[in-house]
Amino acid sequence: MMRSHYSVDVTESLIDSEVVLSGWVDTRRDHGGVVFIDLRDRQGIVQVVADPDSGAAFSAAEGLRSEYVVKVKGRVRARPEGTINEALPTGRIEVMAIELEILNAAEPLPFQLDEDDVNEASRLRHRYLDLRRPSMQRAVRMRHEIVKSIRTFLNERDFCDIETPILTKSTPEGARDYLVPSRTYQGQFFALPQSPQLFKQLLMVSGFERYYQIARCFRDEDLRADRQPEFTQLDVEMSFIDEEDIMGLMEEMIKGLFKSVIDVDLGGPIPRMTYADAMHRFGSDRPDLRVDLELTELTEVMKSVEFKVFSGPANMDGGRVAALHVPGGGALTRQQIDQYTEYAKSLGAGGLAYIKVNDPSAGMNGLQSPIVKFLTEDVVKTLLEKTDAKENDIIFFGSDKESVVNDVLGALRLKVAGDLGLVQPGWKPLWVIDFPLVEYDEDAKRYNAIHHPFTAPAVDQLDQLETDAGKVLSRAYDLVMNGTELGGGSIRIHSTDVQSRVFKMLGIEAEEAQEKFGFLLDALRYGAPPHGGIAFGIDRISAMMAGHESIRDVIAFPKTQRASCLMTEAPSIVDSTQLRDLGIRLRSSVAQKLAEGEEGSDASS
Ligand code: AMO
Ligand code: AMP
Repeated sequence: MMRSHYSVDVTESLIDSEVVLSGWVDTRRDHGGVVFIDLRDRQGIVQVVADPDSGAAFSAAEGLRSEYVVKVKGRVRARPEGTINEALPTGRIEVMAIELEILNAAEPLPFQLDEDDVNEASRLRHRYLDLRRPSMQRAVRMRHEIVKSIRTFLNERDFCDIETPILTKSTPEGARDYLVPSRTYQGQFFALPQSPQLFKQLLMVSGFERYYQIARCFRDEDLRADRQPEFTQLDVEMSFIDEEDIMGLMEEMIKGLFKSVIDVDLGGPIPRMTYADAMHRFGSDRPDLRVDLELTELTEVMKSVEFKVFSGPANMDGGRVAALHVPGGGALTRQQIDQYTEYAKSLGAGGLAYIKVNDPSAGMNGLQSPIVKFLTEDVVKTLLEKTDAKENDIIFFGSDKESVVNDVLGALRLKVAGDLGLVQPGWKPLWVIDFPLVEYDEDAKRYNAIHHPFTAPAVDQLDQLETDAGKVLSRAYDLVMNGTELGGGSIRIHSTDVQSRVFKMLGIEAEEAQEKFGFLLDALRYGAPPHGGIAFGIDRISAMMAGHESIRDVIAFPKTQRASCLMTEAPSIVDSTQLRDLGIRLRSSVAQKLAEGEEGSDASS
């Protein structure tokens, strides 16, 4: 027998019994003649003691090193007075070793498991060791609990878990595709799915009505802490529903999830905010409502000022002037303000005008600012009223194209709040609704879908698709939590006619639409029910619930920010015969680079 109990189950009720334990040597302390071993297994830690009376077990214990794998047979006894550790579930007992078998030795680890700031590259290279850390074990297991809770919820409501292909055709979610070359059809490629979007819609045409899948998605995009090239979605689709049905059900699911896994009560109905309001008030379509700061609209006020930095954008079509009022921000030093200015510039701002309010009762004289001299007393009075700025506050200004002002002040709002400790603890979920259907891409001179091209336009705005597409709202919704987009979805187009019109409006001509999405357009012709759905980022939900900054911490084997795996060293060069079978030859510049970097590489032949 390898084990009679897990570590944490060895408690006072077992005193005087014999137990068999297996696990790793977490630590070994040699107290001259007595060896103490913290034995670790998946549940926790228990203290094992070996002394010369333990015979062969004692000499085996003397030879132990950290992370050796051992099996111990021993007798449970109460710890002597003064050595009790109330912090451990097993802190009142210890196990006197009778037999100790080394199941496997371990070389010294590249880093200590209890070390706090091991660099991430080293952690990722030895991920199997990193995952031994209790915090990582907790995160990975919490992810399991999350998926379990979600599955239970959906299974109980008759959702059917259906797998969709990984080797497929490009699915447009706005990122670059990962491609897989076909050997049977040389020169042709599969794309890995950016999401199961089209397949789940087709399953609605098939009549499943309620589908879900814990689906792996692949997107070749710029990575950040909350993005991975392959990630996991909870993907859901339903037929014969409207926005209220799906948002209501998903709200119930998310609330149940938070309650069951981390015992958090998300409270009453999740508030809703239109996209327009979110941008206007917070400069973001995923506002973090833990921060009380809001933007103040000043476009009208600044139309008539002399100061061109403000009056220019205020009078420009699509321009915006807005302020971010920060209570207590008067304490910011010149150097800190300069840093915020640099930050604003890095996000596209021309600068970052500000006013420090030293004494609001003293009019212009009570203000400290490089720009008040360009403004009239009236305007200053109005903006102090509008922002409701008080003594010792600061007001930052953004003046530019609306999108730049929103980006800059939206990001500054979070940064300043973080720096000044203005982020309240807790959970602030929010539905963002009424997104525009499309946005205009200035460079490409055409419209792009904001969600994806299968999202239904608002029912009463269909006739504006051809005349005023930029103004048409969509039937999309996002679930935002503490400033992170956890999920997004929409009611879909289920009529071939509307789908074709939307493709056309997006500049996808009939021929191209047929080539790329012909199977969808065909399917819509054969009795497609009204349908809609949503997808949640499982990695993001897990990271947030487990209290980790990066989704890498809740993925057992994640990729780096540069989309590689340090442990397996993927991606890697393949041998020339594999490429030949696929009918692929590397570009000579690439082959040359590989040859220089990788000795002996023959991937180019
Ligand atoms: P969307 O593209 O908004 O919608 O994705 C849904 C959710 O997936 C998560 N997510 C990511 N997580 C980690 N790394 C990434 N690179 C990444 N990209 C997205 C986010 C996001 O909210 N087919 C639609 C859904 C639908 O319409 O039903 C879709 O994929 O949490
Ligand atoms: P300038 O006229 O460029 O010297 O700028 C005067 C003040 O306005 C400085 O404090 C700048 O940081 C600020 N400023 C310049 N451009 C902008 C802008 N687009 N938005 C907000 N403030 C700006």
